[in-house]
Amino acid sequence: MGTGFLPARGSFMLDTIVVGMVLVCIIMIASISIVRFRKNHRLHRAIQTGLAIFLLIAVAGFEIDLNWFTKWRELAEPSPYYAGGWVHRVLWIHLLFAIPTPLIWAGVIVMAWRNYEDGYATEEIKRKHRISGRIAAGMMLMTAITGWVFYWTAFVA
Ligand code: HEM
Repeated sequence: MGTGFLPARGSFMLDTIVVGMVLVCIIMIASISIVRFRKNHRLHRAIQTGLAIFLLIAVAGFEIDLNWFTKWRELAEPSPYYAGGWVHRVLWIHLLFAIPTPLIWAGVIVMAWRNYEDGYATEEIKRKHRISGRIAAGMMLMTAITGWVFYWTAFVA
């Protein structure tokens, strides 16, 4: 068993991220619905900016844990998928989403703060934000889903 609180081999930080990503996805979908159906752009702006700050802190803690404290490979070794290389393959797929996602999010947030004047912007800017916002949200969902698959492959199985 790892040092985490889930009944698996994960560390405390790994477990926190795995559970935290459920909340991040729910809050993100709620925030997009709030602006789409309730037209409450101030709440959407506050939630999206708050989520990004929270994720920045969580990812920093996660990186510190995995680089200096937790030897995740030792925790993953008992998995039946480790020896055949599947744990590493799934990790690579996860990283394909996890690495670009913060960059895309940063871009969407900086552009939105620059271009929206209290929720108002030209149709062109709105269109671009809706498209890039959906890509950013989709990338975050894929980061979460592939992260959960990795966690299961490495620390549950
Ligand atoms: C990564 C962060 C963000 C994501 C993923 C995101 C995502 C989205 C999405 C998908 C929509 C379209 C909703 C629909 O289908 O109608 C939307 C609309 C909107 N967002 Fe964001 N957003 C983010 C950050 C921000 C920020 C920081 C602001 C303000 C500074 C903002 C302001 C707005 C406004 C005013 C709208 C509605 C206006 C419109 O029709 O374009 N967003 N956002």
